[in-house]
Amino acid sequence: MAKTILEVENLSFRYDIRQEIETLQDVNFSVNRGEWVAIIGHNGSGKSTLAKLLVGLFIPEKGRICIADIEMNELTKWEIRRHIGLIFQNPENQFIGTTVQDDVAFALENINLSYEEMSLRIDEALQTVGISNLRLFDPSRLSGGQKQRVAIAGILALKPDILLLDEALVMLDPRSRRELISTLKQIKSKDNTSIISITHDMNEVAEADYILVMKEGRVVNRGTPKQVFSNNTMKFEYPIVEQLRRELIKHGKKMPDKYMTEKELVKYLWK
Ligand SMILES: Nc1ncnc2c1ncn2[C@@H]1O[C@H](COP(=O)(O)OP(=O)(O)O)[C@@H](O)[C@H]1O
Ligand SMILES: [Mg+2]
Repeated sequence: MAKTILEVENLSFRYDIRQEIETLQDVNFSVNRGEWVAIIGHNGSGKSTLAKLLVGLFIPEKGRICIADIEMNELTKWEIRRHIGLIFQNPENQFIGTTVQDDVAFALENINLSYEEMSLRIDEALQTVGISNLRLFDPSRLSGGQKQRVAIAGILALKPDILLLDEALVMLDPRSRRELISTLKQIKSKDNTSIISITHDMNEVAEADYILVMKEGRVVNRGTPKQVFSNNTMKFEYPIVEQLRRELIKHGKKMPDKYMTEKELVKYLWK
């Protein structure tokens, strides 16, 4: 049976007690180990607020957040941060070390590790994100895609159960974005790491096992990509695979009348 790593129950939140309408209203969802969940929704719908709550930057006003069976509160938030790592848009602001390896090492300084274990973890993290060759480079002088890899390596070295990305790939060119998505897929299958990705990129969304659609602080739609894109009430742009399926129908090709994953589409077109 799938094992739950994160549970959010009846979560509501306001930035200010004078706020009449809550920024998050009664949010409920859970994430299994090794599952990829995408969160989508227009600007201001509360996605980043939710991300900050998940890493304990704010404490829930109502409802609860449970990660790795630990309930989030002021006392447990430090412990919880070992289980979930947040990566956001601008890694520049996150660099401290003058070399890539120092930067990743810095992420580990709050946990007590032997020198050997530390260098083992740094090696492994850099290798996973494919930047072992950059370990002595100055992180501030790398390309956008490489910087995000350093940031991800810093989080991976902590061996978290969940990687949380808040529009982390948005600044990257399409190619680095695709490469990083495929790296994330490898991380997910290699370590059974769960991924929560907040994004506007529908091709990234198409990789998800499950999608949450947010609007005005609430989850208004949820399901697999198949379910959400066949019931696209929010009029989101479709992933490339779905655009292609629709285009083929327009051109008279007989196609299944349901959303197809990339795999299914390729298989169908080849048969
Ligand atoms: N630090 C803050 N203080 C007060 N209000 C905020 C703060 N951050 C965000 N908000 C408000 O909370 C709402 C949700 O914002 P946010 O979570 O950033 O949405 P999203 O990430 O989906 O664009 C918005 O109305 C925003 O103006
Ligand atoms: Mg945001």
